[in-house]
Amino acid sequence: MAVRVGVLGATGAVGQRLIQLLDPHSDFEIATLTASEASAGKTYRQAAKWRVDSPIPDAVADMTVTATDPDAVPNDVDMLFSSLPSSIGADVEPGFCEAGYVVSSNSSNGRMDDDIPLVIPEVNPDHLDLLEVQRDERGWDGAMVKNPNCSTITFVPTLAALTEYGLEKVHVSTLQAVSGAGYDGVSSMEIIDNAVPYIGGEEDKLETESRKLLGEFDGAELTHNGMDVAASCNRIPTIDGHLENVWVETEEDLTADAAAEAMREYPSLDLRSSPDPLIHVFEEPDRPQPRMDRTLGDGMAIAAGGLQESPFGLQYNCLAHNTIRGAAGASVLNGELLLENGYI
Ligand SMILES: NC(=O)c1ccc[n+]([C@@H]2O[C@H](COP(=O)([O-])OP(=O)(O)OC[C@H]3O[C@@H](n4cnc5c(N)ncnc54)[C@H](OP(=O)(O)O)[C@@H]3O)[C@@H](O)[C@H]2O)c1
Repeated sequence: MAVRVGVLGATGAVGQRLIQLLDPHSDFEIATLTASEASAGKTYRQAAKWRVDSPIPDAVADMTVTATDPDAVPNDVDMLFSSLPSSIGADVEPGFCEAGYVVSSNSSNGRMDDDIPLVIPEVNPDHLDLLEVQRDERGWDGAMVKNPNCSTITFVPTLAALTEYGLEKVHVSTLQAVSGAGYDGVSSMEIIDNAVPYIGGEEDKLETESRKLLGEFDGAELTHNGMDVAASCNRIPTIDGHLENVWVETEEDLTADAAAEAMREYPSLDLRSSPDPLIHVFEEPDRPQPRMDRTLGDGMAIAAGGLQESPFGLQYNCLAHNTIRGAAGASVLNGELLLENGYI
């Protein structure tokens, strides 16, 4: 029987993607939708300016949106997917966990907390066991798991494929799509015919989240990976798909051919939303490209290309769909992992 789930922040850009992915999902059934007080009481069709590339699913169009409050969520709902602004998430998400709900969240609040698992299922599924520590420390009946920032998710799986060579220094420069800032995030006057070499707070997220994701969990404590990471983040006028240029210095010698093989062979998982292959490695020197390659693996694959040796170690490019693999799809995949591991 499908697990009854809710979406917090259901009317937003990521919330709409969540609904698009959850509606046909055989493990989950959308039972409740929340948003701000301004949307509460309206039907979903009235409250959401639907902008996803498929019609509003019939199952949600006439559902009444509620306030984002644990008392407004029916008791038979077992899991919540959260796509709230991080300041709101920080205020309200813990209350849902206290009330017994398991929350799979996109919002950046709490991602770096010691007892909150930050998870990409194909990379660090074992970190999910931090939930035992979390429940002990916080006394929650529910639980909170986070997925990383969209630009972190794009390059970390490629690094995970290379860990046996000993990661020492990573430089990453991003070319990020406008949808990553939400529908109203970047004005057209700012981005058309332009590139903006600054995205507030983003560089720090790539640098810190990547070390947490590739850290070691010993069953009680998580030790972050000791590699050095330097990130430079740029907004460019693509709609979806973050492209990143990466240089990796490793302890052991690493050729471009060995790196390509390690990425191609890096395993996916037997979860519905995990693509196979996880990492698609292009031979063509001009790929991956956002418009052509962001929907690989239904938007859940990582694309890599341009692998070559350089004076700064291995050099390559990678790409992922920022609102699917980088946001809504990442939360849904974490939901599948929670389900498989008996947390729901
Ligand atoms: N866009 C991306 O690619 C991306 C990628 C990764 C992570 N994220 C993260 O995902 C989250 C959502 O991003 P988004 O782009 O979807 O934002 P968004 O389009 O602005 O949507 C925000 C959602 O939160 C609701 N909300 C706003 N204020 C609220 C309040 N005071 N109480 C309850 N609900 C409230 C909104 O409801 P109303 O419609 O009623 O205002 C809406 O449903 C953010 O934390 C963001 O950092 C986004």
